[in-house]
Amino acid sequence: MRRVLVAGNWKMHKTPSEARVWFAELKRLLPPLDSEAVVLPAYPMLPAAKEVLSGTEVAYGAQDVSPHREGAYTGEVSARMLSDLGCRYAIVGHSERRRYHGETDALVAEKAKRLLEEGIVPILCVGEPLEVREKGEAEAYTLRQLLGSLDGVEPSAPERLVIAYEPVWAIGTGKNATPEDAEAMHRAIRKALSERYGEAFAQRVRILYGGSVNPKNFAHLLSMPNVDGGLVGGASLELESFLALLRIAG
Ligand code: PGA
Repeated sequence: MRRVLVAGNWKMHKTPSEARVWFAELKRLLPPLDSEAVVLPAYPMLPAAKEVLSGTEVAYGAQDVSPHREGAYTGEVSARMLSDLGCRYAIVGHSERRRYHGETDALVAEKAKRLLEEGIVPILCVGEPLEVREKGEAEAYTLRQLLGSLDGVEPSAPERLVIAYEPVWAIGTGKNATPEDAEAMHRAIRKALSERYGEAFAQRVRILYGGSVNPKNFAHLLSMPNVDGGLVGGASLELESFLALLRIAG
């Protein structure tokens, strides 16, 4: 009932020329998919994504968006611009934005609202740092972040929202959460979504796991009933590895 989603978060890697070649190769080698593939490159790669990937099974999107609609906001990129470029998804609230740019839950919620206004699906990230997990407070912390980041966010349908659980200590470290720990958190997130949006809605929202996902651990993570896909950094950069993840997702 929930279509598996494999989203590649390229972060600040590759150039537009490199991306163009990568997209073309992906298009050439793409297996038939039941799951959904999404590439999330940095802004300057989006025109190439539009040119090469439009009309294919692969969706693309951005890693962030401005909380403002338009105006004198130097350096910002609006949801309307992303929509014009054909973005179907955009990440908001990634832990690297929260940590290095001081993004608060309230700001993340504003960004999610701007995306929804333009018909773009927010991939809203939450997850606890190591010290919080060690204190046994991971769930309370993550759910507080989730509800804070969804304040005033009203998607018109469950397909219009994706949540990514990304424990900060698992990102880029090679230490993924155990599938069982991920499942426990995903279940708690779905329960919170059910209290927030109703049970029918919560049952259809996709919850991705992120943090050192790779072709070796992905199948086990995906076997968990509440893990609906992956938000993948490092292992999405090499085409072979991204294709391997797609084959695992089916
Ligand atoms: P990673 O990054 O797969 O390299 O750990 C995941 C993410 O930050 O989205």
